[in-house]
Amino acid sequence: MTYSAIAGSGGFLPERVVSNDALAADLAAHGVETSDEWIVERTGIRQRHLAERGVTTSQLATEAARLALQDADLQASDVDLIILATSTPDFVFPSTACLVQANLGISGGAAFDVQAVCSGFVYALTIADSFIRTGRARCALVIGAEVFSRILDWNDRKTCVLFGDGAGAVVLKAAQEPGIMAAQLHADGSLAKILNASGNVAYGEVTGDPFLRMDGQAVFKQAVTVLERSARAVCDEAGLQVSDLDWLVPHQANVRIINFLGRKLGVPTERVVVTVDRHANTSAASVPLALDAARRDGRIQAGQTVLMQGVGGGFTWGSVLVRM
Ligand code: UT7
Repeated sequence: MTYSAIAGSGGFLPERVVSNDALAADLAAHGVETSDEWIVERTGIRQRHLAERGVTTSQLATEAARLALQDADLQASDVDLIILATSTPDFVFPSTACLVQANLGISGGAAFDVQAVCSGFVYALTIADSFIRTGRARCALVIGAEVFSRILDWNDRKTCVLFGDGAGAVVLKAAQEPGIMAAQLHADGSLAKILNASGNVAYGEVTGDPFLRMDGQAVFKQAVTVLERSARAVCDEAGLQVSDLDWLVPHQANVRIINFLGRKLGVPTERVVVTVDRHANTSAASVPLALDAARRDGRIQAGQTVLMQGVGGGFTWGSVLVRM
């Protein structure tokens, strides 16, 4: 039996850090009122990294991928599959995964994008696990990468203060022991309206609304409900109790959602990884960035069980339970 296991991780954030105060001052200059106090109290976000004009998702993704390969002590030539989760691809096509493949100087293996918004990374990881278990790949780069700042309406204070840019990646390799112990993915398309960017390209023009729109309270309620249910189901699938988890690495959208989830599951705060204060919500990049941060600062260790969870537009959600 072949399983898959995480062999390395990497994270990359654009250099420019924008504090809540700096953002509030910028927004005030065009009549949009917000404050550090409101943002911290309602979301836990203190700053975000924003890509300069011209910096692309594929560039951020390539840097994260290189760091993950270095961490795994592997070469790009070892990779035979690239799955990249993003809702802010460089182009309509080719896929951003193909651009990353070219940047890494390799060719021949499969490379494609996955579109599941903030659940994108757990979707991509689950797909890569299936490829490896069935022998269709041996060594995958699984990446979440976004420049969400490009699809924000900077006149809408209900959304523009919440997001940041960045990329996270893992190397997933064939292994004799699991690695990935259980995974479950879900969607409910009837909830598309609570979080979407509904513009499209037709007849050579961008038509419709090009910006992200969200009913924050509806998303909040949905997120806490489905994340708790999904965490319990995936632990059941693996034959574990929630109390057996060493780490919870949830999607980083709002510290209030994360704390609520931790309390409902009975996972103590010190075993929940939080990066939303520094990164804001980086959509598909949030989970691998948080995983990488906690591996590099020595919290997440080999042999420990980690539950990663995504939730977001679609509506989509999912959980992946891993032994590191
Ligand atoms: O990644 C996908 C997943 N996304 C999420 O999980 C996001 C989920 N939702 C949330 O995190 C929260 O609902 C938000 C952070 C988006 C909003 O927090 P809230 O506690 O639900 O606030 P609210 O929307 O009820 O707004 C409360 C007040 C409103 O004013 P009134 O109507 O009470 O006078 C807003 O206009 O806060 C006002 N407000 C702001 N004030 C200052 C909204 N945004 C801002 C802002 N600065 N940036």
